[in-house]
Amino acid sequence: MNGSFPAAGNHVFLGDNLDLLARVPDGSVNLVYIDPPFNTGHAQERVNTHAVRDDTSARVGFRGKAYRSLRVGQKAYDDAFDDYLGFLEPRLLEARRVLAADGAFFLHLDYREVHYGKVLVDGIFGRGSFINEIIWAYDYGARSRSRWPTKHSTILFYARDPRAYTFDLDASDRIAYMAPEMVGEDKAARGKTPTDVWWHTIVSPTGREKTGYPSQKPLGIMRRLLAVHSRPGDTVLDFFAGSGSTGVAAAELGRRFILCDSNPEAIAVMKTRLDAATTHFHDCDHVQPAPKPARGAQRAVAPGAGADGGIVA
Ligand SMILES: C[S@@+](CC[C@H](N)C(=O)[O-])C[C@H]1O[C@@H](n2cnc3c(N)ncnc32)[C@H](O)[C@@H]1O
Repeated sequence: MNGSFPAAGNHVFLGDNLDLLARVPDGSVNLVYIDPPFNTGHAQERVNTHAVRDDTSARVGFRGKAYRSLRVGQKAYDDAFDDYLGFLEPRLLEARRVLAADGAFFLHLDYREVHYGKVLVDGIFGRGSFINEIIWAYDYGARSRSRWPTKHSTILFYARDPRAYTFDLDASDRIAYMAPEMVGEDKAARGKTPTDVWWHTIVSPTGREKTGYPSQKPLGIMRRLLAVHSRPGDTVLDFFAGSGSTGVAAAELGRRFILCDSNPEAIAVMKTRLDAATTHFHDCDHVQPAPKPARGAQRAVAPGAGADGGIVA
């Protein structure tokens, strides 16, 4: 990190990411991953239920016993935008500005907006900076009978400089051969490196990884992405952080993280997932405005800034 904001350590911000981004120095982040709302046109909600015994219920389950679902919580964020690309554009411009010279940018969208998103990011990074379209394919949930069930989303990968970016394929997890009998025992046991199609199950609705936050991305996806596209000690920024999967993967892999979300429920989920003792939690509203640097001067910490450089929360 070449700037003073935020100071060393892991940081989570509550507030509009545009407010945060305005204070992040140029070229100070090695990897930006964002998973903005997909513009589905309706609020994203996840109602969490817990089954409890109830002999009066008609719902019969395990060993013929009757259960009823107890509503234990609901988490939601808004996902309907009149001008989706107008919302994204200033944030994408900031994403490029804060990236280091050899940094990489990842935009996660689904089929509704990915083609518009690609054209928009091409215009900001340049078409030559587009490196890959990663398809995350899964196979879970209801299957439409009127069209092909949509079971994938897309991560667009751009390099700030297409001639110099981190790509450590050896750091990737390996996957099974589809026809192991054709490659011999050793190769089959080792597995192979993934392609641009990543088969990975969604976060299991009943598994331990589940936080209950809508649209939570699996750690398996985030681990692979961070392992290959960043190095230990690098700074990773996710400014649509949701449940904080990026931060969890970054912490596991020894990367520093900066996360932001405008939804207090997301921050609450992150607090339970991340090590609250070593992560600094801030309110964007409490971030001091960045001072205008004098001509030719280095970037400076805002006058009266907190110990962590510009933050007084
Ligand atoms: C698709 S979810 C991210 C899910 C996340 N990748 C995960 O694994 O949990 C999008 C998130 O963007 C947040 N968001 C929407 N507008 C925002 C804004 N202007 N500033 C910060 N966060 C915003 C929403 O609250 C939501 O949590």
